[in-house]
Amino acid sequence: MKHILVTGGAGFIGSNYINHILQERDDYFIVNLDKLTYAGNLENLKASENNPRYTFVKGDITNHELVDYLFKKFDIRYVINFAAESHVDRSILGSQIFYQTNVIGTNVLLEAARRHNVERFLQVSTDEVEGLFTESTPLSPNSPYSSSKTAADMMAMAFYHTYGMPVLITRCSNNYGPLQFPEKLIPLMIINALHDKKLPVYGDGKNVRDWIYVIDHNRAIDLVFNNGRLGEVYNIGASTEMYNIDIVKLILKELGKTESLIEYVKDRPGHDRRYAIDSTKIQTELGWKPEYNFADAISKTIRWYLDNKEWWERIISGAYTQYYQKQYGNK
Ligand code: NAD
Ligand code: TYD
Repeated sequence: MKHILVTGGAGFIGSNYINHILQERDDYFIVNLDKLTYAGNLENLKASENNPRYTFVKGDITNHELVDYLFKKFDIRYVINFAAESHVDRSILGSQIFYQTNVIGTNVLLEAARRHNVERFLQVSTDEVEGLFTESTPLSPNSPYSSSKTAADMMAMAFYHTYGMPVLITRCSNNYGPLQFPEKLIPLMIINALHDKKLPVYGDGKNVRDWIYVIDHNRAIDLVFNNGRLGEVYNIGASTEMYNIDIVKLILKELGKTESLIEYVKDRPGHDRRYAIDSTKIQTELGWKPEYNFADAISKTIRWYLDNKEWWERIISGAYTQYYQKQYGNK
């Protein structure tokens, strides 16, 4: 049995990972350490909560006593670090918690993993680098969020070089799919459209993001976790570059809503123009390839939000509303 500490497993990607992988693998015992910030939601883990190979611990990855205790109590041999503050707009409004969780938190996990001689440590990193990039393109983060993730990514690699720690890094493009917190582009636009509220498109809407369905990302993470070469970085992307405005129009079309709901608003400060990821390495070296095409998976995602109104209505009536009313009026 593999005893794995999965951090941030109550968020969007982590919960999809746990729910998916516990079905796929019968040799994983997962301890999910999550602080349950505004983005963490135990409802996301209903499919896993009664699984005897799953346990949840509410706590902060920056708490080194707790982290050390968990390594000992559960004989943790593996770590997959999803936990992060993940929203660029929030990082622009206040950056401190981003460095606290994403940088200090990763350091606490790496130090604990080093003391306990773990067999693999996978750092879930991002693609937030301008333009098309491979694993060897120098990182050039522009937002507090991406700079904090870059620091964590570099730190993990430094632990590999300095201490010979068994580190792996994945850098993935923009994810979409079920259970994504409705502050990110796709769920926000779906939900606003369903309420006939304005859809706030930053700048001219011609920023490009490279999209991947969350299950394809998680399959790639698991492959790197098991078969990746230590000390290596693997890009994960589905070569689906889209203008933001085209995604917004597609959502409106699928929902039968009019484009008059689109509202061009003031641009995000430091807004990166284009993210695009070259994932040749994981494809050729590990044989991964995306299974979902964008047209089908975006329809599936929209359908999920239509079928799971209670999930997002509960969120909207809580932290999300308070946050947005404070920061953006009635966006
Ligand atoms: P999310 O915001 O939906 O979830 C983050 C989770 O981490 C939440 O459950 C939250 O409660 C938890 N968390 C936050 N601070 C914590 C702390 N101090 N201690 C313990 N738990 C804490 O984020 P997501 O979209 O699921 O992203 C997961 C990871 O994937 C992040 O590391 C992110 O940088 C990375 N990533 C995301 C994308 C994307 O498109 N969403 C793309 C590439 C990489
Ligand atoms: P987002 O989902 O926040 O992801 P990221 O910033 O990590 O790429 O944003 C995706 C793109 O959509 C980005 O170019 C910003 C844009 N965007 C809008 O135009 N309006 C919005 O309300 C949001 C949340 C994002």
